[in-house]
Amino acid sequence: MRTHYCGELNQQHIDEQISVCGWVNRRRDHGGVIFVDLRDKQGILQVVFDPDDENMFALAESVRNEFVLRVTGKIRMRPEGTINSEMFTGEVELLAHQLEILNSSETPPFQLDDDDVHDDIRLRYRYIDLRRPDMQRRMQLRAQVTHYLRSWLEEQDFLDIETPMLTRATPEGARDYLVPSRTHSGSFFALPQSPQLFKQLLMMSGMDRYYQIVRCFRDEDLRADRQPEFTQLDIETSFMNEGAIMTMMESMMRGLFKTVMSVDIDADFQRMSYTEAIERFGSDKPDLRISLELKTISDLLSDVEFKVFSGPANDKDGRVAALLVPGGNSLTRKEIDGYTEFVGRYGAKGLAYIKCNDITQGRDGLQSPILKFLPDDAITQILERTAAKSGDLIFFGADKANVVNESLGALRIKVAQDLGLVEDGWRFLWVVDFPMFEHDVRENRWNALHHPFTAPSTDKAEELEADPGGMLSRAYDMVLNGTELGGGSIRIHQMDMQQRVLKLLGIDEQEAEDKFGFLLTALKYGCPPHGGIAFGLDRMVMLMAGATSIRDVMAFPKTQTAACLLTSAPSPVSDIQLKELSIRLRKPQTEA
Ligand code: AMO
Ligand code: AMP
Repeated sequence: MRTHYCGELNQQHIDEQISVCGWVNRRRDHGGVIFVDLRDKQGILQVVFDPDDENMFALAESVRNEFVLRVTGKIRMRPEGTINSEMFTGEVELLAHQLEILNSSETPPFQLDDDDVHDDIRLRYRYIDLRRPDMQRRMQLRAQVTHYLRSWLEEQDFLDIETPMLTRATPEGARDYLVPSRTHSGSFFALPQSPQLFKQLLMMSGMDRYYQIVRCFRDEDLRADRQPEFTQLDIETSFMNEGAIMTMMESMMRGLFKTVMSVDIDADFQRMSYTEAIERFGSDKPDLRISLELKTISDLLSDVEFKVFSGPANDKDGRVAALLVPGGNSLTRKEIDGYTEFVGRYGAKGLAYIKCNDITQGRDGLQSPILKFLPDDAITQILERTAAKSGDLIFFGADKANVVNESLGALRIKVAQDLGLVEDGWRFLWVVDFPMFEHDVRENRWNALHHPFTAPSTDKAEELEADPGGMLSRAYDMVLNGTELGGGSIRIHQMDMQQRVLKLLGIDEQEAEDKFGFLLTALKYGCPPHGGIAFGLDRMVMLMAGATSIRDVMAFPKTQTAACLLTSAPSPVSDIQLKELSIRLRKPQTEA
């Protein structure tokens, strides 16, 4: 049907007889001549219909947006003055000799070049939305990324192995999507939150190096970088330690960026401990493109009268921290109020600040509602520790450490974005030395910071049991520009250690047997030391595409409430189906 794609035609094709197929992006009538911008997956080509051929011209007059056409004709230079240097095809046009309307279209629900279309409409008519050039490019990029990753991993002897979708619950910390079994009435499969246990079993099966580009399902609160079903690049290896795995993954990412983006990632990936990341950036996925840092000042404020500061300064779970904003002196009262409200969303009770008008004048050169509460030496030391200069502003957070970290950590990013303090570039980082457990205060129990199969940094279970809270794990996260791209760990490969970790997590023997009996048994039959990682493929492509949500790099994503607007899923099912599955629904309540 066609000889070329619309988007590939340029001066090299002048005078060639060609055929193209595509959609009408726009039709313009110009005093006796009709222009149609024809669009396909490669781009847009201007087609000209001359009135000389009356039949064809009449046909061209009848086309509307999103009609599907086949046009044959000759490529020619556009006349002087009508050249569009922004477009790849902008110097040429196709003079039509023959037009076929392959299909008509109703008026589309939105203009493809309208950037202001409501997300719901875009998702309901996703097949139209996906015709937009930037969506086409994102899908192409995504395919290039998966293609590269597959070839790279296969070159390194990784085997692509599929794992079940209908399976048992896999504990990654979210709710499960359940599938009722017809043949085992009252029993349910869970869709995998990740293939974690299967990939470990594959190591026990001697597969040595496994990978899979695999769908995972998690019923959790959705955000811009979270979808209920998403894709992981899932990897597991035997007989490699964390250093070797991290180095290997670095070269994979380097190759990916070089090949797909033509970007050189020269510097070694920085490695930073979890503790340092939280201390300096208030986050375990710091965006290193932003140089602003949090400084702890608790020690300077334990004796001040200002209870807002001295309280947390003297609380072992508290933290008082300062965030210096270079040039922040110019922030208005209203802007500061806005930031106060912003940190409030993270639980902060306020946002004290000091404006540094003229640092050489000491107290007199500063401006702040809290100045009167602070003694001279505390002020001097705060200025010193934050390295404040005239023209800067210092924000303060004082609360439980997690509130300060989350609120000032988020403020750091927000302020940097607002003031244009985010540098360009790709800042990769490994976060390592995570604590093995975090303490759930409300339930008074330990939770795994990664998952329960992550190895502790000791092989002596007694050491782990003596101080669970102080124990580090052998986990690592790869962070890129403030997004957690992937996470993994060396796994527990000894049955005894696995049982004792499960016990520390409050999972007794019976429950462990019920939930993970198959894994515990497998550990008894010669399990090699192993470890791996999983990357969020959607997040990776989102960052590479410069998109702000993973939805924009998924062909058919779900809404904020985990629904598919295109197919109207989830949907009620027939009584017969329910009966077969032995499911009885409570009668829908009648309205009062
Ligand atoms: P984890 O739970 O950290 O680890 O997931 C790995 C990566 O998957 C991505 N991700 C998501 N992307 C989109 N939507 C979601 N709802 C979502 N949840 C997670 C993130 C994350 O870094 N089995 C372990 C990996 C391992 O230990 O090997 C796991 O699944 O980018
Ligand atoms: P107040 O004494 O409550 O008026 O607070 C004085 C200043 O301290 C105001 O600028 C508040 O925004 C700020 N503030 C109050 N509580 C906190 C807190 N927990 N952390 C940081 N600043 C706070």
